[in-house]
Amino acid sequence: MNVNLWLAMGLTKQYLRYVSSAVFGVIGNQKANIAFVTLRGGEKGRYVAVGACEHVFIWDVRKAEKVLILEGKKHEVTYLCPSPDGVHIAVGYEDGGVRIFSLLNGESNISFSGHKSAVSVIKYDALGARLVTGSRDTDVIVWDIINECGLYRLKGHKDAITQILFLESKNLLITSSKDSFVKWWDLDTQHCFKTMVGHRTEVWGMVLLNQESRLITGSADSELRAWDIQYIEEGKEVGEPQEKKVRTLLENEEEDEEGLDEEPEERILSCKKAGSVLREARDRVVSLVTDAKAKVLACHGLDATFEVFTVLSEEEVQKKMDKKLKKAKKKTKSQGGGEDVPEPVVERKLKDEIQKLANIKASSKIRSMDCLLVPNGEMKVALLLQNNTVETYTLKTSEKNPTGTKTSRLTLSGHRTDVRTLAFSSDNIAILSASGETVKVWNRSTLQVIRTMGCEYALCSLFVPGDRQIILGTKSGKIQIFDLASGSLLETTDAHVGALWSMCLAPDQRGIVTGGADKTVKFWDFELIKDQDSGKNKRLTVKHTRTLQLDEDVLCVRYSPDQRLLAVSLLDCTVKIFYTDTLKFFLSLYGHKLPVLCLDISHDSALIATGSADRNVKIWGLDFGDCHRSMFAHDDSVMFLQFVPKTHLFFTAGKDRKIKQWDADKFEHIQTLEGHHREVWCLAISPNGDHIVSSSHDKSLRLWERTREPIILEEEKEMEREAEFEESLAKGDEPVVPGEAKGEAEPAGKKTIETVKAAEQIMEAIELYREESEKLEEHRAACKAVGKELPPPKMNPILVAFGNISPSRYVLEVIKKVRSSELEVSLLVLPFPYVPDLLKLFNGYVQQGLEVELVCRCLFFLLRVHFGQISSNQMLLSVIDELRTNTISKVREIRDVLGFNSAGLQFLQREIESKEDVMFFADATDRFEEKKRKRRKRERAVLTVT
Ligand SMILES: *[C@@H]1O[C@H](CO)[C@@H](O)[C@H](O)[C@H]1NC(C)=O
Ligand SMILES: *[C@@H]1O[C@H](CO)[C@@H](O)[C@H](O)[C@H]1NC(C)=O
Repeated sequence: MNVNLWLAMGLTKQYLRYVSSAVFGVIGNQKANIAFVTLRGGEKGRYVAVGACEHVFIWDVRKAEKVLILEGKKHEVTYLCPSPDGVHIAVGYEDGGVRIFSLLNGESNISFSGHKSAVSVIKYDALGARLVTGSRDTDVIVWDIINECGLYRLKGHKDAITQILFLESKNLLITSSKDSFVKWWDLDTQHCFKTMVGHRTEVWGMVLLNQESRLITGSADSELRAWDIQYIEEGKEVGEPQEKKVRTLLENEEEDEEGLDEEPEERILSCKKAGSVLREARDRVVSLVTDAKAKVLACHGLDATFEVFTVLSEEEVQKKMDKKLKKAKKKTKSQGGGEDVPEPVVERKLKDEIQKLANIKASSKIRSMDCLLVPNGEMKVALLLQNNTVETYTLKTSEKNPTGTKTSRLTLSGHRTDVRTLAFSSDNIAILSASGETVKVWNRSTLQVIRTMGCEYALCSLFVPGDRQIILGTKSGKIQIFDLASGSLLETTDAHVGALWSMCLAPDQRGIVTGGADKTVKFWDFELIKDQDSGKNKRLTVKHTRTLQLDEDVLCVRYSPDQRLLAVSLLDCTVKIFYTDTLKFFLSLYGHKLPVLCLDISHDSALIATGSADRNVKIWGLDFGDCHRSMFAHDDSVMFLQFVPKTHLFFTAGKDRKIKQWDADKFEHIQTLEGHHREVWCLAISPNGDHIVSSSHDKSLRLWERTREPIILEEEKEMEREAEFEESLAKGDEPVVPGEAKGEAEPAGKKTIETVKAAEQIMEAIELYREESEKLEEHRAACKAVGKELPPPKMNPILVAFGNISPSRYVLEVIKKVRSSELEVSLLVLPFPYVPDLLKLFNGYVQQGLEVELVCRCLFFLLRVHFGQISSNQMLLSVIDELRTNTISKVREIRDVLGFNSAGLQFLQREIESKEDVMFFADATDRFEEKKRKRRKRERAVLTVT
């Protein structure tokens, strides 16, 4: 640390940093989906992953325990998707970022950044090698997980992407969007070869059935549309004859859903409407899911019911059709048909293939669902409900009319509705949180729930001295007293007509004061009375002693710690101060333009700080009621304010999602605690000042912890500026690739602070290389001039630190350190004057066979991006020429090595197979393909049974 900093610290008060220490109270957030995951080979259907603010929580639903937290950084989780092997999970965030976590250790090593707004869907390919993401920014990006880089960006949709499906067998992608279109993409050529325009509203979900030969789409109505996919084989004319197509063009409205969207000439495949499955719900589809083998189909809309369908296999359908046919034949016979009666015709309908199994009602509106089938045919369903609850159900699919059994429910570790009041016990150990329906007491160190008790809608709360009872003030004007040992409600007292907004413990600890919407402040004394029920035990009650009548609704009441004064905030935007003993008026604090929603008085009864809906905080002297300073505090209403015990520092909580700390003597903003994703309603500071708990509309409670780290205000401001810069970068225009048209496919990735930093590092490295080369050049010239060897010039200390490497080698080291997913964008922001040096360096690397793969990747990218400038530069022609010959020969060498290795591996495979008589999967999939082909042929053949 330099002298200035020491001076600064010596001269100013020492502020200590508070940091986030935990997120709790949230079971699952609405923004992201729910997904079954497997943990360390544990049983299927036992663990679910849900978004919990910026984290992902993995719950063991059987034990109702949180077993793993995948820690995010800042932005909310918006989508999650487990990898096909179950070892990883890809998580998408509000800012468009994607990270891949290991489910073994909860760590994340891979991250992708390419979307400009929230990730709305993620899919893995079957091998888990590629990831495709869709976003609210309307783009779809395909990522290479192995090389950790973006492959291409698919542009074309006009609204948020809602679902993505891989058609593995043909390397195709299907995407659906709120823009009502379903698009088909050829991943070999990265272009959209087909757009289905038949849906007139948002397409909310899609699934594939019958080995990728049938597509089901869900939109804003109760119809699930089924589409048959037929692959067109090269050079063969399959499907409907030509005249059929002309007919559909002329057909009425109903038909245009099927016909009009076809491209002039159909390539690759045709997709025709095969019918529809009707849901019972009439609203839009929210989730449409299948199990891994697509044997069951489940969906739900905006309400509490989900519907389950079974998808019959080809054999089952065939059996059913045979039965029907027999029946029909019998009927014609019994009707006495003779020889001339034609054979009965039984038509195969979609209904025969997809059958409704059950309608199941959950406890609350469903936000998201996932399902899986376990080997015994049981279906397991996980539901994320709208009120911070997870439920699981099982269903016996083999039964005729199965009923769903609720198997578990996660409700304990969170509230159903927002927490409006918080309190710390006097020993700093327990935390109280109360919402619209329950009050909970938590162990601060373990964050376990100690007690959950039903209550009325709570607005304010406190621990009774001794920490054995708690008191709540409710929206209906009642005081509720609970006993913690027994977890029971001791009494409910009518206190105010209308909301009881505020409550404060008397400093002498003998009673409380309450203020309410009935324009009164009431004083209450604690008393112990004989319990009528149990006879001899005494219990706590409150006795009304005095009333202070006011002209306006009371929003907030506070005693001065010396108990001499009482501050009362009123709806008319003033705060009035009264003498506690006589209830005589003392002072009025004028100045706020909107009502004061929160206030607090410092420990020495010298200062009063007020926070208002007008977004300002004012600090006043309590002796004369003079306003010391007014400060713009939050971008929205200031909801809560509290002094840190024994200091003149205080915290405010705002509807702008932020918590801020202030110095009431120096009028300084000290620090901002960011983390909540919605309005912060309230906070509580522990009596020793070491902990803060806060609650928000995002359903989370957050614990913050005071550290020993001092805050230097200048540094803090600098950091804030940097954060702002980063934000502006992230929001900035995505780089347009020079020389490349803004087409459907663009390189994926976007400018971030990391890519800018990486580019800067490359620039610095090249500059170092230039300097060192110059030095060597001079040295050589000097040697020549004197005609003998001179001692070599001193090397740059950086090169020494890297182990005496050459300057050119150093540049390569720097490039190697750039994160793979950021390489292209970093090169893109590199100014052109550095490019010629890089090309020369690349030539050297290729000649020496250093990192040929990486170098080629950079080389080709730079050539593409700067093609115009490079080709018009005479000086570079020889370099390029050399590069061409060298690169071709080197790449050829590598190819030969790869070919040799591959042949070697195949040889080993054959050896092992012949020894152990097992077949490796490559061949097994071949056979599977063969089977599929046969099955498809059969399907076509049995469409009509006569
Ligand atoms: C919220 O969830 C609970 C389950 O804990 C359920 O019983 C209740 O009915 C739900 N309430 C609302 C308003 O949806
Ligand atoms: C909270 O948890 C800690 C650690 O398990 C325990 O020592 C303490 O007694 C608990 N406190 C309460 C109030 O339950």
